[in-house]
Amino acid sequence: MSAIQSVSHETRVFNPSEEFKRQANISGMAAYKALCDEAERDFTGFWGRLANENLKFSKPFTQVLDETNAPFYKWFTGGELNVSANCLEKNIDAGLGDKVAIIFEADGGEVTKVTYKELLTRVNKLANGLKSLGVNKGDRVVIYMPMSIEGVAAMHACARIGAIHSVVFGGFSAKALQDRIVDTGAVAVITADQQVRGGKQLPLKTIVDEALSLGGCEAVKNVIVYKRTGADVGMQAGRDVYMHELAGKQSDQCAPVMVDSEHPLFILYTSGSTGKPKGVQHSSAGYLLWALLTMKWTFDLKPNDVFWCTADIGWVTGHSYITYGPLAAGATQIVFEGVPTFPNAGRFWDMIARHKATIFYTAPTAIRSLIKASEADEKVHPKSYDLSSLRLMGSVGEPINPEAWMWYYKNVGGERCPIVDTFWQTETGGHMITPLPGATPLVPGSCTLPLPGIMAAVVDETGGDLPNGQGGILVVKRPWPSMIRTIWGDPDRFKKSYFPEELGGKLYLAGDGAVRDKDNGNFTIMGRIDDVLNVSGHRMGTMEIESSLVANELVAEAAVVGRPDDLTGEAIVAFVVLKGDRPADDELRAKLANELKGWVGKDIGPIAKPKEIRFGDNLPKTRSGKIMRRLLRSLAKGEQITQDTSTLENPAILDQLGKAN
Ligand code: WTA
Repeated sequence: MSAIQSVSHETRVFNPSEEFKRQANISGMAAYKALCDEAERDFTGFWGRLANENLKFSKPFTQVLDETNAPFYKWFTGGELNVSANCLEKNIDAGLGDKVAIIFEADGGEVTKVTYKELLTRVNKLANGLKSLGVNKGDRVVIYMPMSIEGVAAMHACARIGAIHSVVFGGFSAKALQDRIVDTGAVAVITADQQVRGGKQLPLKTIVDEALSLGGCEAVKNVIVYKRTGADVGMQAGRDVYMHELAGKQSDQCAPVMVDSEHPLFILYTSGSTGKPKGVQHSSAGYLLWALLTMKWTFDLKPNDVFWCTADIGWVTGHSYITYGPLAAGATQIVFEGVPTFPNAGRFWDMIARHKATIFYTAPTAIRSLIKASEADEKVHPKSYDLSSLRLMGSVGEPINPEAWMWYYKNVGGERCPIVDTFWQTETGGHMITPLPGATPLVPGSCTLPLPGIMAAVVDETGGDLPNGQGGILVVKRPWPSMIRTIWGDPDRFKKSYFPEELGGKLYLAGDGAVRDKDNGNFTIMGRIDDVLNVSGHRMGTMEIESSLVANELVAEAAVVGRPDDLTGEAIVAFVVLKGDRPADDELRAKLANELKGWVGKDIGPIAKPKEIRFGDNLPKTRSGKIMRRLLRSLAKGEQITQDTSTLENPAILDQLGKAN
C-alpha cells in the first residue's frame, strides 16, 4: 500500500456562507447529520421513504432491499416504473411542460432550446421508430452519438420501451465499439453521420460500418443515423435508416413500458485492472432515485437554476448528470457539443455568461488546462467574463489538486460559490462522497464526507477498520440503491472485482486508496490502488493498453504504468520490448514510438495513446519472471531507484529504461 501513504496537510477551510446556507435544500451540518442518523437507525426505512417521495411507481414496491442473494442486491422489489416517464411526463404533469429542458449549444455556437413537452415528443417518435424496427423490452441498443439533444433523446427512447442502452463514447475506435456491440449482443446501433468538435468534422457512421464489418455483430439489424452534418455517408439498404425519416413518420404518442425496479436501464463499459472493459449494469428505480436525489442534495437544485454538466453522455457523469438526474429533477440544463478550447479557451466562461448558468460541473483536467490558457491570454481569463450568475460549482472524475481548487474558487466562483468535489464511479451510479454546499465546510482537495446512507470507510488489506489519519482501502459497507448490479454476462467477475473474499466478501471495493483526517473524518482520495489509470478523468486499464501494444507485429512485450502529470492528472508511459533489436538510433526510436502511439490510438481510441514510449532490450523482472511495475513507475517519474533491486534478474536494464528515448 505504498502508493497511499502520503497524507494531505491542507488546513484551509471554507464554510458555507449564511446566505447559501439559508436557502439550501440541506441546510447546515445538523440537517446533514439528521439524515445520516436516520439512515443508521432505520436503513431500509430511510431508503424506502426517499423512493416513495421521489419516484413515481406504477406499481408500488413491496420490499426496500432484498439481500438474499448478496452481493446481487435488489432494491424496491415488486415495484414497477418507467425511468423516462419519471423524467418527462412526471414534470409535464407537474406543470413544467413549457419549461426549457435543454439549451443545446453546438460547436459552432448555434443554440437550440427544447421544452419538456418538445423533448417528450421527440423521445416518443424515436421510441415508436425503434419499436417499428422490432426493438423490444430487454433488447440492447448501442448508442454512438455526439453530444446532442438527439443523443439524450435516444437514451430516453430506449428507456421508454424498456430497451437497455449502452452508450459508447464517440472517441472510441471501431475495435472498441465492436467489442461492446458483441458483448452486449446489441440489435441496433444509433449513431450520427459525423460529429463536430473544435471546428472539425469527425466520422461516426463510417466507424460504425467498420465496427460491424469486424465480425460478431450479426445481431445488429439496424443502424439509425442522425444527420448532424449531412456528410455523404454510405447507407446500407435494409439496414441503415436516417433518424429523421424513421421518427418523422411516427406518432408523437408512445405509452411508456413499465418495467421492474431492477430492470437494467443501461450497460456502460469501464476499465478494470484486468481483462477487457467491464459492462457495468445499472438498474431502473435505484439508479434513478440516486441521480435525482443527488441533484437536490449535492447540487442544491432549485426551480430557476440553469445547470451545466460539461461531461459527455459517453461517460457515467453524462448519464447521471445530463440524461437522467437533471431531467428527473425538472431542471433546465445546458448541453454542449464542443470542446472547452474552441473557438478559444474562454468558451466555458462565455457560455456561462450567455446562458446565465447557475451551477457548473466539470473535471479538474479541464480546469487545469484553462488555468494555463488564461495565464497566457487575459482575454480568455474568467475575470474577462460576467460569471455572476454562478452560485455553485462542482468537480468530478479525478482528484482536484488544492491549487486548481483555489483557482477555480477564486476566479470562476468569485469566492462566493461553494465547490462540491464529488467522488464517485461508473459503478456507484451517482455521488458517494461529496460536500453538501449548504452544510459541509470545504477543504480544498478533499471530497469531505459520505452522503447520507452511504456507509463509506477506510480499511486495511483484511477488511479491518483503520483509524482516521491512516491511509488504506476505500470501501462501502452497505449496499446503496444506485450501485452496480452485476457485470453484464459475467457475475463471477462482478463478485471477485467488487466484493473480494480477501476483504470478507461483504465490503464494496472501490479500487481507490483513501485517508480520513483526524479532526473531522473528511475523506481524501489518494488514487487507484489497482492497475487502473486516470488520464484526464478517463479510466484506462494498463492491461488494455498492453494488450493493444503486443498485438502490434513489432512488439514482443509491453508494460504500461502511470506517471503524475500536471495537466492530465496521470500520463501513460509504456515500456516496450521489440521482437527485433532495439534501434540504437534516436530518430528511429522516436519514429517507432510515434507509430505505436498511433496504433494504440486506432485500436482503442485517442484517449489511450501513451504519452511516452521507452524501448528496452528487456523489462525489469524478478527471477520468477514477474515484471516489477513498482520500479517502472519510479523510472517513468524520473526518480532515482532507491528500492531494493536484489531480486531483479537483470538490474542493468534499469539504466537503459531510465532514460527518455
Ligand atoms: C476517480 C467518474 C478523486 C477515482 C465519475 C474513481 C475521483 C474513478 C473523483 C472513477 C474525485 C472520481 N476525487 N478521484 N472527486 N471522482 N475519481 O468510473 O479514482 O470514470 O475510482 O467515474 O475516478 O472513474 P469513473
